[in-house]
Amino acid sequence: MEKGPKLYEGKAKILYETENPDLVIQYFKDDATAFNNQKRGTIINKGIVNNKVSTALFRKVEEAGVKTHLVERLNDREMLVKRLEILPLEVIVRNLVAGTMARRYGLEEGILLKQPVIEFSYKNDALGDPLITIAHVLALGWATKEEIDLLIDATEKVNATLTKFFDEKGFILVDFKLEFGRHKGEILLGDEICQDTMRLWEKETLKKMDKDRFRRDLGGVEDAYNEMCAIVCGTE
Ligand code: C5P
Repeated sequence: MEKGPKLYEGKAKILYETENPDLVIQYFKDDATAFNNQKRGTIINKGIVNNKVSTALFRKVEEAGVKTHLVERLNDREMLVKRLEILPLEVIVRNLVAGTMARRYGLEEGILLKQPVIEFSYKNDALGDPLITIAHVLALGWATKEEIDLLIDATEKVNATLTKFFDEKGFILVDFKLEFGRHKGEILLGDEICQDTMRLWEKETLKKMDKDRFRRDLGGVEDAYNEMCAIVCGTE
């Protein structure tokens, strides 16, 4: 499948049209940003790693009954996906307190939550992706009740599947972000699932294996990305 004109360029990925109007190519860049674009940098070969990890994790959640936009990984940096009308929402799942939740409520990182929290933010860089409630989403007509129910069910399946998968590999899935969109009227999981969008801690040492190494200047960023890629994808 050949790349057509550029459709959209985001912080970490570029979307290209293809000859098929229902399919687009998602190109993974090495660019990394944090804190709503205030910190910028490059993580060498991040695009290659994130493409591989996202493909493997999309396949895993598909096996658990979650429909995703993945068609196939085309090469190192390109994934063929179904074209989505993305909902303007970031769906964040938290199993332990970390990041924004720790800051927002003045809590220690690492507290195990009695039950997972699913929160929504309005995807808008200029506003800093503010927290939004389901009531707002329904009132604004951004999604229907049926779509929200489906999306929450899919999110819970993703959390259960990936929490178990990483636990068996010796890692804690602390939190992650998902994005959903409509394809021919059907809600599909889109975007990516990788170390840019998840917090993963090594169980024994609580070592951070994700983008927090970049955000917090912890060093060993590439090593952590490569190590998790080998664990998730094997030596394919
Ligand atoms: O920053 P915060 O604590 O809200 O992030 C929760 C989870 O969602 C983290 O795993 C983070 O990597 C992910 N996230 C993301 N994109 C955003 C905001 C959060 O992937 N814009």
